[in-house]
Amino acid sequence: MRISVIGCGYLGAVHAAAMASLGHEVVGIDVDQAKIDALNTGFASIYEPGLDELLQEGLKSGKLKFTTDFSEARGAKAHFIGVGTPQRKDGAGADLTYLNSALNSLLPYLSADDVVIGKSTVPVGTAQALSQQESFQATGATLAWNPEFLREGHAIADTVTPDRLVYGLPADPAQADLARKVMDEIYAAILDRQTPQIVTDYPTAELVKVSANAFLATKISFINAVAQVADAAGANVTELADAIGLDDRIGRKFLNAGVGFGGGCLPKDIRAFKARAAELGVTDVIDLMTTVDEINLHQRQSIIDQVKQLLPEVEGKKVAVLGLAFKPESDDLRDSPALDVATRLSDAGYQVVAIDPKAGDKAQQLYPGLVLAADWEDALADADVALLLTEWKQFTTAQPPQAKTGAVVIDGRNSLDRESWLAQGWAYQGVGRR
Ligand SMILES: NC(=O)c1ccc[n+]([C@@H]2O[C@H](COP(=O)([O-])OP(=O)(O)OC[C@H]3O[C@@H](n4cnc5c(N)ncnc54)[C@H](O)[C@@H]3O)[C@@H](O)[C@H]2O)c1
Repeated sequence: MRISVIGCGYLGAVHAAAMASLGHEVVGIDVDQAKIDALNTGFASIYEPGLDELLQEGLKSGKLKFTTDFSEARGAKAHFIGVGTPQRKDGAGADLTYLNSALNSLLPYLSADDVVIGKSTVPVGTAQALSQQESFQATGATLAWNPEFLREGHAIADTVTPDRLVYGLPADPAQADLARKVMDEIYAAILDRQTPQIVTDYPTAELVKVSANAFLATKISFINAVAQVADAAGANVTELADAIGLDDRIGRKFLNAGVGFGGGCLPKDIRAFKARAAELGVTDVIDLMTTVDEINLHQRQSIIDQVKQLLPEVEGKKVAVLGLAFKPESDDLRDSPALDVATRLSDAGYQVVAIDPKAGDKAQQLYPGLVLAADWEDALADADVALLLTEWKQFTTAQPPQAKTGAVVIDGRNSLDRESWLAQGWAYQGVGRR
């Protein structure tokens, strides 16, 4: 099938390349010329494992191309929209400017039997509002919402072998039938593997995505709240998580205490959920998400407070920051707890030296004053405090160098091998397991 993918960032670039790998003829469209140029060379400007290889395969086969020219969407039967929906600058809600603008740019090239498929994460009610816009209705095209659940670092596998496919369909039976048929055809190879499919209406599909992220965020903040009690009471939160995680009603995933969640999704999605609930006059979600957000931000502050407690004299004190990306196997720095802690400690006057396998240069572009270490040894040499803030395997498996006298490592992800750090003379502090 001929497909266009509008918005070629972390979601869209992967979706475009993955759809081409399923045999479709795909054009990816974005307003960012530099991003498009990079994608067309087969080397994305973002880091996602396996993406460059998939891009190169698609470009070589002639099934995949990228452009800034929306007219290239003409003739495609399905148009995925994966543009950003960041937090508004003036509040907690989602900024839908990019979504509205992408749809407006696409309108002149839509035909009556086309299906526009929203993938961006949006506040509940968005699809209904978009589908009712006069300009959209005038095209005769159909709108569906098909939320995306990929995890950065695993995005390709999550796109081609997802846990489930969710279709949010319009109320009109003929349009719903068309949208379903088109998506079934696009995802035929995925559906053949008995992937669960949930076919529902717009608001349910939109809320499935938002509530999935709200639940994951709540799970992380829950274990972080418990970690605070474990610290105060001398318990070990990792052993506790292992024990409660064996109960399959609870599950072990997302129960890792630490510096908290970040990235381009969870923080803005829980805030947008809160804002939308407020518009709908529903209060409990506001209170719940406010608490989840507060606990999460408290974890960052707690690491900063520990450093200040260990090093009350700022002058000449070196803090090694291990990790800057919001999670391993990604270079995404959006709302990264690691970058936040690093820059705040630097602003407080500490000599911060950071290292990250993929996000270092991007972090330095954002914060030109940020000092990057040449390598692992350089980062840790003469450090007074070392902070593990992103659990890259390179860091959690590396042998630490000998510690300077009195040096402390704070394991902000509870992922280091405590014994090997102790053996090299470091004092060790974890989260909820000091
Ligand atoms: N990144 C993830 O892990 C992930 C997972 C699931 C859902 N999502 C959702 O997907 C959406 C996109 O997220 P992302 O992480 O890919 O963001 P991103 O910032 O990496 O990519 C968004 C892209 O949209 C482009 N864009 C902006 N305005 C445009 C326009 N008018 N026309 C065409 N392109 C335009 C930008 O240039 C950018 O390349 C968001 O709603 C996000 O919540 C993201």
